[in-house]
Amino acid sequence: MNITKRPFGTLADGRAVTCWCMDNGVVQAEVLDYGVTIRSLVVDGVDVVLGYDTIEEYVANDGYLGATIGRVGNRIAGSCFELNGKNYHLYANDGKNHLHGGKEGFDAKIWNVEETENGIVCSYLSVDGEENYPGNLQVKVTVTLEGKAIQLKYWATTDADTILNLTNHTYFNLDGKGDILSHTIRLGADRYCAGDEGCLPTGELAPVQGTAMDFLTPHMIGERIDADEDCVKLSGGYDSNFIISSSPAAVVKGAQSGITMTVTTTEPGVQFYSGNFMKFRKGKNGAIYHRRYGFCLETQHFPDSIHHPEWPTCILKAGETYESTTKYAF
Ligand code: BGC
Repeated sequence: MNITKRPFGTLADGRAVTCWCMDNGVVQAEVLDYGVTIRSLVVDGVDVVLGYDTIEEYVANDGYLGATIGRVGNRIAGSCFELNGKNYHLYANDGKNHLHGGKEGFDAKIWNVEETENGIVCSYLSVDGEENYPGNLQVKVTVTLEGKAIQLKYWATTDADTILNLTNHTYFNLDGKGDILSHTIRLGADRYCAGDEGCLPTGELAPVQGTAMDFLTPHMIGERIDADEDCVKLSGGYDSNFIISSSPAAVVKGAQSGITMTVTTTEPGVQFYSGNFMKFRKGKNGAIYHRRYGFCLETQHFPDSIHHPEWPTCILKAGETYESTTKYAF
């Protein structure tokens, strides 16, 4: 395992950003301390993730390319929640709703990075009241290369009850270029969170059978993406939380490269997002990105679960430890 680092520019306030480079002789990964962002991941000579050349592009562009998302990934309806009888008002950055941690989420923080066995451990202290969330939250994300796989291990503790739903927002393209419509995907999910036009769960855990959401057997992403069904129509393609009912959560294959990625996780759900809102932009090494040029598999607790007490809880109590692991194997 070879670990090196290089400067990756500076933020507007002068803080330096560092790119950590890991190579275990099988896969090569680059991770920024800015957002614990996976900037590149080279498998069999193909860089299978989207990213940018400069820190300025990471700061200026939307889309959360490669980033760690927190405190709460996905949406919170009405940007507010009640915990222990107290109301908390969060930043509304997706219409009336709160998305991916708010105004300045974990994706835009500089994390402290140290070397560990097979990779790096990144830590961040999110202080009480940051983005209006309660509790001093100590978070760690350990990024390791495990043979032909990259693993993300999340850990957190808090000194006051809070809510937490960490994930990673890497856009994969297993062909390394073009759109992802001819990738084949299988999802170990027999239900999904039905959503409304704002991508918020209605509360219904709908069966996938007989719909464009049925990936229990492999289908091309593009096959039913524009079907005349609310589950894809309301979000312009795939953008829903699938409820994992069997392992692995996902298996995806690039049509041209033949590279196969298998996703396993300890989380109960996975947001399969087909990059529908991605607008044209310049990517790293001269690449061009467009709508549906990358897909995300954001392993997570269900969206807006603070408003659905019947679902697995996203509440982290004071003194409890949050732990979650996701592995992307090739
Ligand atoms: C969401 C999309 C959103 C995107 C932001 C995804 O996790 O589900 O609706 O547009 O993140 O890039």
